[in-house]
This record gives sequence, C-alpha cells and structure tokens, in this order.
Amino acid sequence: MSKILVEGEKNLFGTIPISGAKNSCLTLMPLSILSGETLTLENTPFLSDVDTMKDLLESLGCGVLYSKQEKKIKLKMNVEDKYTAEYKIVKKMRASILVLGPLLAKYGRAVVALPGGCAIGTRPVNLHLFGLEALGAKFSIDNGYIKGSVDGKLKGALIDFPSKSVGATANIIMASVLAKGTTEIKNAAQEPEIIDLCNCLKKMGCKIEGVGEQKVTIEGIDQLGKAKHQVIMDRIELGTYILAGAISNGEIKLTGGDLKPLKSFVDKLSSIGIDVTQDKSTICVKRIDENIKPVNIVTEPFPGFPTDLQAQIMALLSIADGVSSIEENIFENRFMHVPELIRMGANIEIKGRKALIKGVPGLKGVPVIATDLRASVSLVLAGLAAKGETVIDEIHHLDRGYEHLVSKLTACGAKIRRV
Ligand code: UD1
Repeated sequence: MSKILVEGEKNLFGTIPISGAKNSCLTLMPLSILSGETLTLENTPFLSDVDTMKDLLESLGCGVLYSKQEKKIKLKMNVEDKYTAEYKIVKKMRASILVLGPLLAKYGRAVVALPGGCAIGTRPVNLHLFGLEALGAKFSIDNGYIKGSVDGKLKGALIDFPSKSVGATANIIMASVLAKGTTEIKNAAQEPEIIDLCNCLKKMGCKIEGVGEQKVTIEGIDQLGKAKHQVIMDRIELGTYILAGAISNGEIKLTGGDLKPLKSFVDKLSSIGIDVTQDKSTICVKRIDENIKPVNIVTEPFPGFPTDLQAQIMALLSIADGVSSIEENIFENRFMHVPELIRMGANIEIKGRKALIKGVPGLKGVPVIATDLRASVSLVLAGLAAKGETVIDEIHHLDRGYEHLVSKLTACGAKIRRV
C-alpha cells in the first residue's frame, strides 16, 4: 500500500499549473450516452475517478480514447441500449449516478446500482429520483439497484428542488435535453461545473436558458450533435494549492486558474492575512502577516464557501493565532480529518455540525490515515507546516482528485515523496 511522506517546515516557492476540473470532467463524460456522435473533451485531468467513469461508460457500450499526455478524451457510443451500471464500478465512485438521467433519456430505461453512503455522509439520491419522476420516469429499488423506466419519452416538467444538489441538477439537465417539451428547474445548483455542463450541451445543439442561475429552462430536442469542449479549471485544486502557499509561509504562483469562482474563499483568506491576487494568467499567494488570524466559516452551496475546501482550510486554521469555527452545512459527517489533525497536535473540538479550532503554535509530523479525498489533502497541507515527518496512509483517495500532487509540490521545494 502506497504512503506519502512529508517533511514539514519548508517554505514553498515556485509555480504550479492548475489542471482541468475533476467534477466537471465526470459530469461531462456521461453526455456521450445522449449523443451518438463523438464528444471530445480537452484539458481533462489524469485521475483515478476519470478512469472509473471511463470504465463505467465502456461497460455501457461507449468507445473511450483517453490520452493522458494530450489531456484529451474522445467518447463515442458504439453499442446502443446497454443500460446497466454494475455495482462493481458504481461502488468505486458516487458520481456514477450521473449516468442515470442520460440512460433514461436515451433508452427509456436504466438500471444503476445504488451508490450507498461514504465517509462524509449518507449521500442519498432522492433528489435525483424526484426530478426524474417529474419528467415521467418510474422507479423501483431491487436488490441494491435503482430500476428506472419511461413510458415512451421523458416529458418536460416544472421541477422545484426542495434543496440544492449539484448532482441532481446535472442529472435533470442531462435528462431534459432529450425530453419532449420544456423543462423548468427551480432552485438549481449554480456551481461552475453546472455552467460548464450547460455550455457543452449548447455546443451539442441544446437549447438552455438561465445558465448559472437558480432557474434553468431547457427546451427538449430530438438529437444531439458532435462537440469539442474544454473542461474548466479545477477551482478546488486551485484553492488547495493557494492554501499550500499560505500554510508553508512561502510564495506560490498558480497558472491556468481563475479566482472568480473562489470569491467567498479568497475573501476569507484576505481576512486572515493571506494575500491572493491575480493578473491575467497568474495567481500569486503569500502571507501578509507572519501570524494567521482566526475566522468563522460556514460551508454553503455555490457561491458560498465550498465544502470541498473545508478540510484544507481547517489545517491552516489549526495554526492560527486564536479560535476559529467552521460550520459544515453540506455533508453531515465531513469532519473525518479532525481526529487525524488532533494527532498532529491541533486543538479541535466538534459540536454537532460545528468545529471549534483553537490555534496552536505548531503541528507535529506523525503517522495519519487519509479517509476521503479532501481529508487526505488536508493532511498533506498540515504535513507541510508540521515539525518532522508526516506519514499519510490510504493515499489512494488522493489519486481520485489531485493530478501529479507530489511533483507539483516538489517543484516548489516541498520535501514530499510517495513510497
Ligand atoms: C458534488 C461534488 C462534490 C461536492 C458536492 C457539494 C461532483 C462529482 N461531486 O457532489 O465534490 O462536495 O457536490 O458541493 O460533482 N442530497 C440529498 N439527496 C440527493 C442528493 C443530494 O439529500 O438526492 C444532499 C447530499 O447528501 C448533501 C447535499 O444534498 O448533503 C448536497 O449534495 P450534492 O450537491 O448532491 O453533492 P454531489 O452532487 O453528490
């Protein structure tokens, strides 16, 4: 089993290129089910989650050419009417549920293994089913599988989500592009990855209004065309490396990124003494003050503070000068990194959905265990600041979402290696 070793207390200086967004890529790839034509995605990241989506689509009859060197994926459905997403693939990645809407829209039936819970919470799929039922699908749950069918074709409808879900919004948008008539989605997720999905669908010929807004309107069409699309940058990877610069008290430059979708995050950083600026092509990060000030954070749907950066900023706040709080409002169990940070010397108390972080002067390198993707990388960040060596186990989680993590940090002077 691979581990990552980080020798801390090295100030990082250098440049890190930001990759294409994992979450966007995973949402765009299932579009190949909707169209019989070639879909070419560029700026795709080299990640195990992308491999899993490739395996899933291949099992559904899609031809997938994944050129990791060219950062390009070409997808074309070769065999029609394969509509079963098997548990052996789905269990590896919850984003597999994103094939449900496209399968129902294209073939009128779908059998998709229930993804189950994960380390950060139960993660139900009721909102996905709620939206698809409104479009005319019927579901039963049988032997751990969601079995969906449509009598004829999906029909456009008004879908008012009781709460925001990125995945459910994506699934409904993908299903409704082939539905008969107009679909109006209210309380839609507004994440940049949803905007990227709509922009790609428009290139495929779809008619969508209100892109990036809470109300999205989709006019169904009969056939989607071929398209070439560039995956947007990974805002969570960008935020993570901004924090690497901040926690190591160095000066990091980031290329290929954009701060616009990270406003709530950058505002919090500037309030605690971290300066993040962007000229056209480069983002620079450095501490304004030697000491990091404490802050209160609440995670929220976009454009609020992203849950996917909560664990990473907690690592930084654990060495702040005072008491910070983080309220996790998206996932009910997303504090799995806390016991590991405590092992490294952090002083953190959890009360329900809130963590109180009493800053300590420094962290110590110890053996720790990664529990999920963002928790793992928060331990890498903590390791960059810690005295001595941090040994992180179960790092397969990191490979799901961080392309070339070790070489990107090494290029900035980090003492980090994989063994
Ligand atoms: C996506 C992202 C993930 C990110 C999350 C929130 C991908 C592949 N993953 O996950 O990295 O952390 O958005 O920004 O894009 N919920 C329900 N019922 C449902 C669906 C969701 O109750 O049917 C709940 C979830 O349990 C959670 C909240 O809604 O508490 C938000 O989840 P959602 O936005 O759906 O997250 P994902 O799309 O799974």
